[in-house]
Amino acid sequence: RKAKMVAIIERYKDKVSALPTNAELHLCKYEGFWLLHGYWFKSQTDFSVESIMALQDGFQALPTDIFLASNPKTGTTWLKALAFAILNRTKFKTESGSCETHPLLTISPHDCVPFMESDSFLNNPSYANGLMATHIPYTSLPKSIISSECRIVYICRNPKDVLISFWHFVNKLEGDVSTPTKLDDAFKCFCLGMVPYGSFWDHMLGYYKASLERPDKVLFLKYEDLKKYTENEVKKLAKFIGIPFTEEEECDGSVRKIIELCRFENLRKVSKDKTQMSKDICEDVYFRKGIVGDSVNYLTTEMIQILDKITKEKFDGLNISF
Ligand code: A3P
Repeated sequence: RKAKMVAIIERYKDKVSALPTNAELHLCKYEGFWLLHGYWFKSQTDFSVESIMALQDGFQALPTDIFLASNPKTGTTWLKALAFAILNRTKFKTESGSCETHPLLTISPHDCVPFMESDSFLNNPSYANGLMATHIPYTSLPKSIISSECRIVYICRNPKDVLISFWHFVNKLEGDVSTPTKLDDAFKCFCLGMVPYGSFWDHMLGYYKASLERPDKVLFLKYEDLKKYTENEVKKLAKFIGIPFTEEEECDGSVRKIIELCRFENLRKVSKDKTQMSKDICEDVYFRKGIVGDSVNYLTTEMIQILDKITKEKFDGLNISF
């Protein structure tokens, strides 16, 4: 396993060394976006720019594949759980109608739906079973994802809440190995677009425009809508991925059961238990509060004004609001 990933790093060494780099933030700029470079989180290769280059060169999508795309901290984990539960709703249903054997009751949504640019996927792509996630910007996706006409579901979220979620995430990941990142610094980097897969706004715009151009292939969802109109959005998602709920399912509570299975508190409990069992991973880092608007408790009025101004300028003339 390790040998394969080392070979990937080696293969793209020259290409990567020519890119603009910010060593302190472990980022380099590739095709207009800041991507991870060097040792970050678990390894040097997980989510690295080299992994993305390897996918661009060698990944072959199938027309039946479904990709869950997102900026980090926008609700990826939730979307993974929902899409997995929708796709596998008959497989894990027992005769009594309950689903006590469901994988989401014991393992993380990240184990059910891999990120394409993760070490585990690159080492064993077949385990994805046609449902994958990615943080890769739209314009940098492997070409076959677009040409093979497969479906992409993108989830976005209010940038202010994303910043706060990201800031907590980074500090939780780094734990006590380094001094915590100050909110001021995280804010500056976020506004400059110098965060993994940044700029946040350009990432979102890429998928938003694609959803307008190819509405049958790219679905654009909002975390806030998923919170507020959960049942509607879940039905929309099921329809888009090609397996709409039948009338019978709507009546027998199938939609409600999926929503319940993927509820924040339930997924968090599973991840907490898992984190306790295997001390080397910290799955509950993906679950913090799971609410809308928490950023007002952290951001100053000036920070809010600046973020709102960037959002307004970037989305000028487009029908996106939070
Ligand atoms: P907060 O930090 O604001 O709580 P991602 O999965 O893209 O990393 O996003 C993480 C954010 O989604 C975190 O936001 C997390 O708490 C929230 N989240 C995770 N699971 C969720 C769920 N089932 N329902 C609602 N929000 C959820």
